[in-house]
Amino acid sequence: PLNNWCSITSGLITLLCLSAPGGVSLVVPQPNINATVAQNILLSVEYSCRGVATVEWKHVSSWGTTSIVEWRSGNYANISTVYKDRVTTFENGSIQLRNVGMRDAGYYFVTVTEEHGTNAYGTIIVNVYEIIYEDLHFVAVLFAFLAAVSAILICFMWLCNKSLHLFQKKTTHKLTGISLKMQSRCRIFKPEI
Ligand SMILES: *[C@@H]1O[C@H](CO)[C@@H](O)[C@H](O)[C@H]1NC(C)=O
Ligand SMILES: *[C@@H]1O[C@H](CO)[C@@H](O)[C@H](O)[C@H]1NC(C)=O
Ligand SMILES: *[C@@H]1O[C@H](CO)[C@@H](O)[C@H](O)[C@H]1NC(C)=O
Repeated sequence: PLNNWCSITSGLITLLCLSAPGGVSLVVPQPNINATVAQNILLSVEYSCRGVATVEWKHVSSWGTTSIVEWRSGNYANISTVYKDRVTTFENGSIQLRNVGMRDAGYYFVTVTEEHGTNAYGTIIVNVYEIIYEDLHFVAVLFAFLAAVSAILICFMWLCNKSLHLFQKKTTHKLTGISLKMQSRCRIFKPEI
């Protein structure tokens, strides 16, 4: 059974090699990406080819077509100035795009060209959304916080008012007490004079 399995796999391998003679193939596992503003996204592809290949990425949107990056496998990547500090390239042909904005939405076309001129193409659609939900969340939390603070303040003021009334009552009691005593003393002293 092991022998059989080996012959089957070797047969498959020869079949694969024959079906792609010196060609280049490209796999795009995720052709649709949803991102939010300021996120980093990986435009993931994987190419396979014998020999050296050139990988080229382009962005197409309603604002036009922009070249992002172009490189030969194992060589220096020529990143266009617009994307200079936002793009990282990977050996398998993928690129990472950092800090995406609304303008980064659209189609990303990748072309892999093999030495002898055969090509493979891939497309990834990127949607970029604004973070409206989190903004609303923040506002709601802030509002609840302010409401709680004002409720505490109102309670505090009510308590202050109440204790002020009590204090005033007490002081008036004391004052009347003192004046009564003084009056009575005066009365005692008066007849002696
Ligand atoms: C992206 O969002 C759309 C709807 O807006 C949805 O149909 C699609 O499945 C999403 N794709 C991914 C990869 O989450
Ligand atoms: C390509 O390489 C990157 C970095 O190593 C990895 O994250 C990504 O998953 C790879 N893509 C595929 C399709 O294998
Ligand atoms: C990089 O690309 C630009 C245009 O895309 C080209 O003018 C320039 O010569 C390239 N630089 C290198 C080193 O290949």
